[in-house]
Amino acid sequence: RAGTYILAVETSCDETSVAIVRDGRDVLVNLVASQIETHKAFGGVVPEVASRQHVECITRLMEQAIAESGLEPDELSAIAVTEGPGLVGALLVGIMAAKALAFALDKPLIGTHHIAGHIYANRLTDEIQYPAIALVVSGGHTEIVRMESEGRFEVVGQTRDDAVGEAYDKVARSLGFPYPGGPHVDRAAQASDTAAALPRVWLEEGSYDFSLSGLKSAVLNLVNQSRMKGEEIDQGAIARGFQESVVEVLVAKAVRAAHQFGAKQLLLCGGVAANGGLRRELTARCEAEGIPLAIPPMRYCTDNAAMIGAAAYVKWTRGELSDLFIKGEPGMSL
Ligand code: KG4
Ligand code: ZN
Repeated sequence: RAGTYILAVETSCDETSVAIVRDGRDVLVNLVASQIETHKAFGGVVPEVASRQHVECITRLMEQAIAESGLEPDELSAIAVTEGPGLVGALLVGIMAAKALAFALDKPLIGTHHIAGHIYANRLTDEIQYPAIALVVSGGHTEIVRMESEGRFEVVGQTRDDAVGEAYDKVARSLGFPYPGGPHVDRAAQASDTAAALPRVWLEEGSYDFSLSGLKSAVLNLVNQSRMKGEEIDQGAIARGFQESVVEVLVAKAVRAAHQFGAKQLLLCGGVAANGGLRRELTARCEAEGIPLAIPPMRYCTDNAAMIGAAAYVKWTRGELSDLFIKGEPGMSL
């Protein structure tokens, strides 16, 4: 069968995922085993528990992916795996499984960057127009990435403390929502007519960096004040105030970066790209300012292996293969 078939593995956090992608574009199969239900009881991801769950399902998912694709194992062109960043124990499970398969089938291995995966999730739908600016917002990352051309990344701004998704989850917890609370805060925000007054954190003039911890503390203070006065917490108003503050700063910085670097396209990616308020504001601003915007379908926004297959394909076309000695890189840079 013609084409490049990459089997990709993603185990950097709490999703075990295996995909097979043709030519970095067509997703033959994308299996995702989420551990959310397990971690809910702890109110967040417990690294050791995550690693064990990856161990329990990775082999089965690899077998199932190959079976569902209808390919013979030998028809695979390469095996790709998330090398970092992420939880080291979790990463290692995927890396060991991918190495073993690559060795057994005598196929090349392609170690892939998780954030490159989130960005190239956009490639699964359409060509990316360069130069591009990517706004990456997830549970672990908040970054503005400049891409002059395919395969070139320059981080021009990032969070100095909490990631956006992390701040959402912490705010959600203080408002009494279950883990992961991002979607709950999003829904409460969109349903509320009133918004609590909360600060916008812009940092130094011209900076593309973000800081979420002050805003998060402001929310916690509001919640505690209400508690001390014996008042009921206005979940909706706090959620909406928080969301408006986050979205205003994210949108303003991403749009400014797109203008400054002459981007032909703005890419929104990562789990928080599912946020209704962010999608709506960014879409409206990009339309008003004539910036083409791309957002991957929801299933490719949250962690998945298809996006790793898309990113690995770019490395494949550039001949950037890995050896069997790669190890997990928890703090890997783009
Ligand atoms: O990309 P992702 O699946 O995992 C990481 O690589 O971190 O992102 C998960 C994060 C969680 O923090 C979750 O609360 C957040 O994305 N999230 C949302 C929404 N949906 C998911 N945050 C705000 N609004 C949403 N609708
Ligand atoms: Zn992610």
